[in-house]
Amino acid sequence: MGNPTLNPGKFITVEGGEGAGKSTQVRLLTEALGRVGIDALATREPGGSPGAEAIRRLLLEGDAERWDATGETLLFFAARRDHVARTIQPALAAGKWVICDRFTDSTIAYQGYGRGLPLDELTALRHFAIGDFRPDLTLILDLPVDQGLARAASRSTADRFERLDRTFHQRLRDGFLAIATAEPERCAVIDGSAEVDAVHRAIISAVAERLGVGSK
Ligand SMILES: Nc1ncnc2c1ncn2[C@@H]1O[C@H](COP(=O)(O)OP(=O)(O)OP(=O)(O)O)[C@@H](O)[C@H]1O
Ligand SMILES: [Mg+2]
Repeated sequence: MGNPTLNPGKFITVEGGEGAGKSTQVRLLTEALGRVGIDALATREPGGSPGAEAIRRLLLEGDAERWDATGETLLFFAARRDHVARTIQPALAAGKWVICDRFTDSTIAYQGYGRGLPLDELTALRHFAIGDFRPDLTLILDLPVDQGLARAASRSTADRFERLDRTFHQRLRDGFLAIATAEPERCAVIDGSAEVDAVHRAIISAVAERLGVGSK
């Protein structure tokens, strides 16, 4: 492992709504890959590089109306561009796998399906920010909205996004599923309502099937 010629790194993103279990599963997947000798880097959005972490603070702090949908989207893409250029691509080039907690699909789901920005404009912005760079595999953790919000609520004080109403979170869920339907080769929908271990096993199966690695 680690030779970029023989073992090019893979880029896996983990997506889904609030409390879907993304951070939990990113950690478990990264550890499982390590056990089979794959050098995997866990990272997250917004953030993942010093510049992007600074933008993260602008996005997550303050009241729900701090940014309008367009301004918020531009901040997400500015952060993402920095994260890809300074953290993700260098790691992949070094032969590492990168496991990312949220990526562009979250912008499409939140700002597109959730807040109503035109999907074609978000697609154009994605191209402007990161060109044709895409995940090798996207794991979409799907579960009923109320279950996800209950989990998120039990964990911490709500951030700007968790304070949005329930119908918003339903559009978000529907948006992630629409993305998966539109790009079935890149996306795998995982039942996020199951127990932590069962979700992890489903993820390992999807990674093995789609990217051809086993688990120990
Ligand atoms: N499969 C599961 N079953 C029950 N509880 C879970 C499961 N997965 C995660 N949790 C718990 O639910 C809470 C949210 O999980 P986690 O932080 O992994 O979700 P997340 O998708 O990263 O949330 P957020 O969108 O807020 O970042 C945590 O307290 C976690 O321990
Ligand atoms: Mg999380």
